[in-house]
Amino acid sequence: MASAIRGMWHHLAQQPESYERKHYYTFGKVLGAGTFGEVRDAVFNPDGRHVAIKVIKKSALNGNEEMVHKEIEIVRNLHHPNIVKLLDWFESKDKYYLVFQLCTGGELFQKIMDYGHFTEQDAARLIRCGFDSIAYLHKYNIVHRDIKPENFIFRDESEGAPLMLADFGIARIMKSDDEVLSTMCGSMGYVAPEVLLRQGHGKPVDIWSMGIVTFSSLCGYSPFWRFEEPRALMLAMQSDNVEFDERFWWGISDHAKDFIRRCLRANPQDRMTAEEALKHPWLTGEHGAARDLLPDVIQNFNARATLRRAVMKIQAVNRMRRISQDKSLTESSGSSSHSFTSDSHRQAAPVGEAKPGGEAKPDGEAGPSFPGGWGS
Ligand SMILES: Nc1ncnc2c1ncn2[C@@H]1O[C@H](COP(=O)(O)OP(=O)(O)O)[C@@H](O)[C@H]1O
Ligand SMILES: [Mg+2]
Repeated sequence: MASAIRGMWHHLAQQPESYERKHYYTFGKVLGAGTFGEVRDAVFNPDGRHVAIKVIKKSALNGNEEMVHKEIEIVRNLHHPNIVKLLDWFESKDKYYLVFQLCTGGELFQKIMDYGHFTEQDAARLIRCGFDSIAYLHKYNIVHRDIKPENFIFRDESEGAPLMLADFGIARIMKSDDEVLSTMCGSMGYVAPEVLLRQGHGKPVDIWSMGIVTFSSLCGYSPFWRFEEPRALMLAMQSDNVEFDERFWWGISDHAKDFIRRCLRANPQDRMTAEEALKHPWLTGEHGAARDLLPDVIQNFNARATLRRAVMKIQAVNRMRRISQDKSLTESSGSSSHSFTSDSHRQAAPVGEAKPGGEAKPDGEAGPSFPGGWGS
């Protein structure tokens, strides 16, 4: 009876049919800021289970509502221990609600301050989780396109909690292995050079971004943080020369540096694939030195965070706009590295640097269950 009345009320209020499911959930605190809204803790009333609900304002999408449908289509078919699961979704007149498995362990680098000790081997374990999820995606021709620390979250607070990949907001399914994608998209500081140069891109963009995440997790700053001037930045990104400042990289293994160089090759064809990365000695062996990296990571992160705040609003977005000559990117005042796509009018924002985290192990996978005939 109550549900019939509710249904009538929703009809009168011109709410979509699926809005009916909102009453299953009781919303709690905000867990994270999203590009178009926020992610909130919620309780699934029937069994008291906690979930994470990504609330997306339709008004913020500028008419690109199919973006959300694409995100749903991609993520609901993914079954991997290191990828957050979509449990349900519904909409109201003015919002989308995507219900995800709740991850309570925090973002990849958020937890660094809690750690008493962080070694190369700890970093390698985390990076392996990232590559496990990316290898799975790439196997099914899915490119994430927004790999960055904020999109990796720990499943729970336990010490060995798996690291989970989230946010398929700008992911794409490629129709074939060699399809070339052309949308200008990614997050400042993590985006590959071929995206900025609009040379067409594919799976290797995720490897580049993982190279930046790996570098940052070992030293607390981004490899290209010094280059504010657009041409210098592009040259540095295309140089195949990653600088490892001895002040911070002493004692870090050659395997780690080799691994990073192979992720940050300017030519996407020269980069490792995710499968190759998983076989690299830095990820397979116990090569990491035992040096505690935490003091340097924290110091560098804080030092550059201050600098970053000062320059990012003024320079970073304008710089990107000049490089891309993309008129659709507009300035953002956000403090984290928001994603952008040129076709969706997501806003660009500045170079985000990294902050390291805990450890994780994948525990098996199943292939995606794709309904037939959906493409990118
Ligand atoms: N399943 C989840 N559990 C806990 N926190 C989450 C979950 N999904 C996302 N978050 C938090 O919310 C933030 C924004 O979510 P995300 O899907 O990345 O949105 P956006 O596309 O707007 O970046 C994440 O960076 C993370 O901190
Ligand atoms: Mg995100």
